[in-house]
Amino acid sequence: MSTNPADQRAIPLPLAPHHSASRSAVTCEYRCGNACSHDAPNTSANTYFGDVVRRALDRRGVLRAGAVLSFAAGLTAATGLPAAARGKNPGSTPAPAGIDFDPVPPNTQDRVVVPEGYEQQVVIRWGDPVLPGAPEFDFENQSETAQQGQFGYNNDFAGLIPLDGAGVHSLLVVNHEYTTETHMFGDYDPENPTEEQVRIAWAAHGQSVLLVKRDPARGGLTPLPGRYSRRITLNTEFAVRGPAAGSELLRTSADPEGSRVRGTLNNCAGGVTPWGTILSGEENFHQYFAHADRVADPVAKQRMRRYGVNTGASTRKWERFDERWDASTEPNETNRFGWIVEIDPNDPNSTPVKHTALGRFKHEGATVRIAEDGRVVAYMGDDERFEYIYKFVSSGRVKKGRSAHARRHNMSLLDEGTLYVARFSGNSPAAEIDGSGELPSDGEFDGAGEWLPLATGTTSHVPGFTAEEVYVFTRLAADRAEATKMDRPEDIEPNPVNGRVYCALTNNSNRGAPEHAPADEPNPRTGNKHGHVLELAEKSDDPTATKMEWRLLLVCGDPQQGDTYFGGFDKDQVSPISCPDNVTFDRHGNLWIATDGNELGSHDGLFAVPVGGPSRGHVKQFLTVPNGAETCGPIVTDDLVTVCVQHPGENGPGAENPGSHWPDGGRTQPRPSLVAVWRTDGHHVGEIGER
Ligand code: FEO
Ligand code: CA
Ligand code: CA
Repeated sequence: MSTNPADQRAIPLPLAPHHSASRSAVTCEYRCGNACSHDAPNTSANTYFGDVVRRALDRRGVLRAGAVLSFAAGLTAATGLPAAARGKNPGSTPAPAGIDFDPVPPNTQDRVVVPEGYEQQVVIRWGDPVLPGAPEFDFENQSETAQQGQFGYNNDFAGLIPLDGAGVHSLLVVNHEYTTETHMFGDYDPENPTEEQVRIAWAAHGQSVLLVKRDPARGGLTPLPGRYSRRITLNTEFAVRGPAAGSELLRTSADPEGSRVRGTLNNCAGGVTPWGTILSGEENFHQYFAHADRVADPVAKQRMRRYGVNTGASTRKWERFDERWDASTEPNETNRFGWIVEIDPNDPNSTPVKHTALGRFKHEGATVRIAEDGRVVAYMGDDERFEYIYKFVSSGRVKKGRSAHARRHNMSLLDEGTLYVARFSGNSPAAEIDGSGELPSDGEFDGAGEWLPLATGTTSHVPGFTAEEVYVFTRLAADRAEATKMDRPEDIEPNPVNGRVYCALTNNSNRGAPEHAPADEPNPRTGNKHGHVLELAEKSDDPTATKMEWRLLLVCGDPQQGDTYFGGFDKDQVSPISCPDNVTFDRHGNLWIATDGNELGSHDGLFAVPVGGPSRGHVKQFLTVPNGAETCGPIVTDDLVTVCVQHPGENGPGAENPGSHWPDGGRTQPRPSLVAVWRTDGHHVGEIGER
């Protein structure tokens, strides 16, 4: 490709009429229960960074210059980049390995658009068979039985676990986050869903597991329904494990021991563990429950409010068909969702697990790394406005290998350890963080942070909370610990090459609004529409450390605007990016970012960005998804890139008039699908070299 910056210059904006929120009303209602149109449930008065600075100024009159300097020096060491090097135009520097492709311009095409020289294929769609013998999809004749054997709705996270060294055969695990009944059924009445429609929706949630084969000669992935195939749904039994298992807070009439839960839901992002299992986050569980206003116990009621559980009927009216969805009848059932779950895809008969030691909140996902001493560290985001970033450090140590024995041991590591929440402070004077997004005089949004322990095993570290209460009502415990309110923490994942940790903060329209936390250095924009990406370096590169340093890698949005920042890279050369959500890495350590809700008038996409060297911050768009869709669950290997295309067509009012006919075209119904993309010439994805 050309290395002339002028040739790479991207990309006028906006390309389509701009509207205030690019997510459709339908997506907002069915995916997260209109979370953004309600007041954020975090009304805690806990400290934000502005307070910390003001307190410091009150005490000392001025921030200690030494402290500021040490932050800056530490961060420079962490990134390996002298501050003076950042912001330089790389001139004719070639694209780093892994991102040498011609960026896809912003667009509003109703298809998946990939770079020149790349091929694509739909691997599996909603309704395609997962279990051997499951029927082919028939939109007009859906049934609970059929859906129980078919690929579920609204795929989000996807994980590939290679079964051989060449990555030809792999286990594919996909989350089915939520159902959109108005688009799933031709005859849906939202006020009067039928029992069969409700049961189909229960079967369309959860996960799909199946074997896939990569074609080493031609590229692409083929699903092979067979002995690994599994559908996990709202009827699958989960074991509750960890320190809150058996707690009175988790007992219900169907499960008086608080040890077994039927089903998982709203599984958003996730991670592949080093021992070959999948972690998945139960995110917006609150919306499935009804009648929190009728709950008799005022303490239970207040706890539900902190999680945003519905007052009145639920959107889907499931409470009419199973009492467990009525919070006033079975209040503890709400406490049995909002966990990290672990699935062992190697054994279709294994009992999946809900891990109480990782806390209960609107879990985006969890990603795991192993510390030098063998302890396991999991990073997690709570995806709602003004919520927190967490990590868990295990007490036990990992056993190497992927034998069934090692896997059993390693799955138990997440049963006991310390759960932490993050508090961040900035190193620039508060007066320089004015909410405009303009960089402070030290040239970066950056600072230090600490991990505040909430509980270790059965010991609480939060005054006024038992350990069980910390795990089950983690948001309330984190309020008490005075964690930092963030702008929707979504995926957070360690970079396997440089060891730093990257967190997507999608947006927060209420940042700085009256009665809400103002802009601070880690969340520096008032009414943050486009989100940002935080880079975190654990002290001494030790993932178990309780101190860290951080800086913003990206402040997203229109590169032509002064409130955006691209790691110091020349903004004339980058692809516009808005609302970062899922993150992953390629083998070279480049960060790949999927977006949700592009506020720049073009479709959501997948982007790649180097995090070191002279190209740090050079964001390039790799693909875009069809009308109404969100890009989810990216996987990037040498041989292919996959993305989940979630909720295509939800920008239209319903199944009769969907906003997209992707992937099958004509007048067909849109179907959420997993897409694979690869190079047509056999070279590695984004590899330097002539095509
Ligand atoms: Fe399901 Fe936070 O996105
Ligand atoms: Ca700063
Ligand atoms: Ca997400």
